[in-house]
Amino acid sequence: MKEKILEVNQLNMAFTSYSKGLYKQSTQAIHNLSVNIHAGEMVAVAGASGSGKSLLAHALLGILPSNACVNGTMNFKGQEMTPKLIQQLRGNKIALIPQSVSCLNPLMKVGKFAGKKACSLFPRYGLSKEVENLYPHELSGGMARRVLISCAASTDADLLIADEPTAGLNDELAHETMKHLRELADEGKAVLLITHDLYLASQYVDTVTIMYEGKTIETLSIEALKNGKWKDSFTEQLWRALPENEFICDIKDMK
Ligand SMILES: Nc1ncnc2c1ncn2[C@@H]1O[C@H](COP(=O)(O)OP(=O)(O)OP(=O)(O)O)[C@@H](O)[C@H]1O
Ligand SMILES: [Mg+2]
Repeated sequence: MKEKILEVNQLNMAFTSYSKGLYKQSTQAIHNLSVNIHAGEMVAVAGASGSGKSLLAHALLGILPSNACVNGTMNFKGQEMTPKLIQQLRGNKIALIPQSVSCLNPLMKVGKFAGKKACSLFPRYGLSKEVENLYPHELSGGMARRVLISCAASTDADLLIADEPTAGLNDELAHETMKHLRELADEGKAVLLITHDLYLASQYVDTVTIMYEGKTIETLSIEALKNGKWKDSFTEQLWRALPENEFICDIKDMK
């Protein structure tokens, strides 16, 4: 068995806020989320908008807002992820491919922003030398994504977190992006894919954790998903309701 890179156990997250200035209230955003990823694996966390997927990424990177209250355990290579360890890992051993391409600095040429090491990976991701001299607004959505992937791939990260890396891309570019991520996993990295596109993910990942409104519905292998071996009827409805699976279920019946 390959080395376990990430172990998230029973993660709960709530946000505290004040109503009418006086009353403190707590809103639960994630309930009992558990995810494990080994080296060489690509694992998806899939769910609709607002189900808490990005919050998981932000917890792993230690970039949650101060009103977030988190409990549960997060281990990286068997070590408890304390705030100090997270700070050391962020950008080194854990790299993020962010949800928004607006993370590229609009005032900086792409080459300068990405750095030499990432630029040396541009050809691998189909980016020409000229791209280094462009500003982010001169890139297409697909090019910007490939720049972000080059940046993450150029680190020594053992864990790559890709937050909706295919959002806004056409089919061809989405598959290309997923192939790049799969390649990185096959080279030994652990890849956490955050996505709402279960069908696309199912063609590339090993395991998927289904989330709904912050709750973990279940974790199952792609083989189990494709063979209908789910434990929860929500997974069945979600899978069958996909356009690619001919909308077999009535979406109103979903939890
Ligand atoms: N700082 C915050 N304070 C209170 N609630 C928050 C805060 N940040 C996020 N949330 C809530 O947590 C929930 C999950 O947000 P999150 O961004 O993780 O969703 P997501 O699954 O990534 O959605 P999307 O697919 O649209 O990116 C949302 O309902 C959101 O409103
Ligand atoms: Mg998100």
